[in-house]
Amino acid sequence: MKTIEGIRSEFPLIEGMNREGNKLVYLDSAATTQKPRQVIDQLVSYYTNSNANIHRGTYDLAEKATHEFENTRKRIQQFIHAEKSEEIIFVSGATEAINLVADTFVEPLLNIGDEIVVSAMEHHSNLVPWQQLCLRKNALLQVLPMNKQGEIRLEKLADLLSGKTKLVAVSHISNALGTINPVKEIVSIAHEYGVPVLVDGAQNAGHHRTDVIELDCDFYAFSGHKMYGPTGTGVLYGKEKWLEQMRPYRYGGEMVKTVRFEMSSFKELPHKFEAGTPNIAGVAGLQAAVEFLENLGMEYISKHSNVLLQYATEKLEEIKGITIIGCAARKSGIISLTAKDIHPHDMSTYLNEHGIAVRAGHHCSLPVMNFFEIPGTTRISFGVYNTTKEIDYLTQCIKKAIKYFA
Ligand code: ALA
Repeated sequence: MKTIEGIRSEFPLIEGMNREGNKLVYLDSAATTQKPRQVIDQLVSYYTNSNANIHRGTYDLAEKATHEFENTRKRIQQFIHAEKSEEIIFVSGATEAINLVADTFVEPLLNIGDEIVVSAMEHHSNLVPWQQLCLRKNALLQVLPMNKQGEIRLEKLADLLSGKTKLVAVSHISNALGTINPVKEIVSIAHEYGVPVLVDGAQNAGHHRTDVIELDCDFYAFSGHKMYGPTGTGVLYGKEKWLEQMRPYRYGGEMVKTVRFEMSSFKELPHKFEAGTPNIAGVAGLQAAVEFLENLGMEYISKHSNVLLQYATEKLEEIKGITIIGCAARKSGIISLTAKDIHPHDMSTYLNEHGIAVRAGHHCSLPVMNFFEIPGTTRISFGVYNTTKEIDYLTQCIKKAIKYFA
């Protein structure tokens, strides 16, 4: 098993110095994780050794690039325990995955008066596409409420479901609160009503084991850059039976079988969803990210995040004036807080002056902030490189900030 020092040494940006010659304390992994050297090296290696367009060329280099790309699809399939690699669609990130499902799966099914259910704690990317679709189609967006702990009120779900419901869309983990949602239970209840479920797994895939068969979800969306991989990469998992019936999302090269001026026919899964030249280098980097995660082990990663969560929660609760927003019984390594009446942007600016990177604001989850009647929070989120020593330093700096702004 690797030591925390060993893990940290794999991240050039974590091991590098800031302008004052100190190491950066990076506590914003929910926004994007830092990248290990093997991911960075893989990007360079792809362009150095393997660069060619995929699924087109008949020469060796193109075949090598195609083979590596398709091999990553298989790695992702195994990583999330999907049944078939054809169920893995490469996209630019979770946002594109969700928009793809909105446009090509739900829109054709949605009639006037139909309904889509989202939870009260969704990131805008798993809310606005559904809201806009409902507005376009005169359908109704139903909201599954949460309680003051920041937990979904599961007992309310069945009341929202009916023959009119075309989809339930819910985050696996709230980016604003850290709540781990009871996704398996949500899927099981929705399926009793014959309603498919899309899970936004952006905050889960890089931190805890993902098993789409165990969850039995119909769609699962996640981003590469939140799981130590490159930006501009992401995955949509969909059950084959749904993907088969969906129309293509984007039209263009390499997703067609035949083209005439009158009509075109489209390729089989997964290619009908991957028009144009994809982010080949990014996908190569994503493969390195999956290898990085698997080498460490998802169990270890999840446990590490939990240790940091417990430690930081205790330390922060000891500070007078701190309120933790979201105290769910099941949480991931994300803590949102307010500090007296200090604006989150003032707090984050103060922490930045002390070499600490945190996110401040509404975290693209305005309805969550409205629910708690706050303008925003200071959000701390952990990655595999964080330590309890960094949390001690953070809490010292937060105490100093509270005195400074008093
Ligand atoms: N969704 C990312 C976050 O929560 C950007 O910060």
